[in-house]
Amino acid sequence: MSTERETIGVIGVGWVGLVTAACFAELGHRVIARDIVPEKVEALSRGETMIHEPGLDELLRKNADRLTFTTEMGEVLDAASLLFVCVDTPPTHSGDDDLSRVRTVVDELDADGDHVLVMKSTVPAGTGNAIRRDLPNLAYVSCPEFLKEGSAVADFLHPDRVVIGADPGDEAAGAMVADLYEPLGGELVQTDVTSAEMIKLASNAFLATKISFINEIANVCEEVGADVGEVSRGMGLDERIGPRFLSAGIGWGGSCFGKDTIALKKLAGNSGYHFQLLSAVIEVNELQKRRVIGKLKKHLGSLAGRRIALLGLAFKPETDDMRDASSLVLAGRLEGEGAEPVAYDPIAAGRARQLLPTVELAPSALDALDGAEAAVLVTEWPEFAEIDWREAAGRMARPLLVDGRNFLDADELRAAGFEYEGIGRAVSAAAAPSRAD
Ligand code: UDX
Repeated sequence: MSTERETIGVIGVGWVGLVTAACFAELGHRVIARDIVPEKVEALSRGETMIHEPGLDELLRKNADRLTFTTEMGEVLDAASLLFVCVDTPPTHSGDDDLSRVRTVVDELDADGDHVLVMKSTVPAGTGNAIRRDLPNLAYVSCPEFLKEGSAVADFLHPDRVVIGADPGDEAAGAMVADLYEPLGGELVQTDVTSAEMIKLASNAFLATKISFINEIANVCEEVGADVGEVSRGMGLDERIGPRFLSAGIGWGGSCFGKDTIALKKLAGNSGYHFQLLSAVIEVNELQKRRVIGKLKKHLGSLAGRRIALLGLAFKPETDDMRDASSLVLAGRLEGEGAEPVAYDPIAAGRARQLLPTVELAPSALDALDGAEAAVLVTEWPEFAEIDWREAAGRMARPLLVDGRNFLDADELRAAGFEYEGIGRAVSAAAAPSRAD
């Protein structure tokens, strides 16, 4: 079945929905995207975006004539048969995914219509089956997203794999979705709906596990005098292990890993299984964010009244997203110790103003470092590699740097007069290992 020039409906124009809409338009399809927030729809219709994602603005501009934004579900249902559901599923107080937005969308559908519901939102395994039971006439396909913030457009257009879950009776709908992704290449995984849902949760949980694992290895490296960069390099060359997601640091953050690991743990628990490994993965990550405090205290003693610069606030570079960012825990802990954090981030400052109202925000990295008694590199923004560290050392009250991402050249920093601490980096490390991913 050809889906050439198919009009595609996208429901929920958050980060996933907007990238999905822009990329399908780039592939030549007409896209009608709906969101319930009128201001968002008006801004997008004027060509303004509210998220920072490399290449996204350009795609939206280039394909503006194929993209329509609306608040009206009826318009989407009239124009499109394939409906990509991209609403968010934030955690509830119990840690389970909040499916109320998904449910609202499902309630708006015409139970007798001939639409195909394509679930991109991350949902607990079993959700598709439950929706299918409620709407037996509707075709249902699970098509989880694996986009990374900061490279989402490239990830969409060059996927490692495309997972399509369709149960018996919905094979034609699954084939329609597979056709849409066909021009992008990438291994096609066709499976049942529940397995597709599990692939998404298990993939994120595994990546989080890999990072927590290497972070624990880094902590042991500190005890025994090994260098985690060398250890990662040596491990990663084993094809069974692979080099990516083996960069030690001050913990993973973002909108997905935290939420999805907890949701998977709860999903298992709700069905009577205690997912022990995942509990440790989550706990290791929480502790990892706090280890920086110990490193600072080792050099400074009490942190009370000390000005500490935080370089970077976003949960990773090339995004202004601060959801679950390590900076939030770190700033809170510093304030708890009586320190006076001052932070700089090239683009997340706007969001930081709301999330960290008591933290001073500096207009540049050097301004943040001015007079500071220590600095912590929290996010590996490329511009931090370009800082004149000699000048920085002169400006700081004490040139002490904790490199939370093992991003800087330790020898260069020491030569510039810094006391340098990385994460799991041996003091005599010759070169700064570059980030594997
Ligand atoms: C993740 C998944 O990678 C993606 O497939 C899914 O669709 C959404 O969740 P994202 O949250 O955008 O993507 O970020 P990712 O690049 O995976 O990084 C997550 C966190 O792990 C970041 O805080 C990053 O700094 C950290 N990280 C990553 C490490 O600490 N070490 C690494 O080696 C890699």
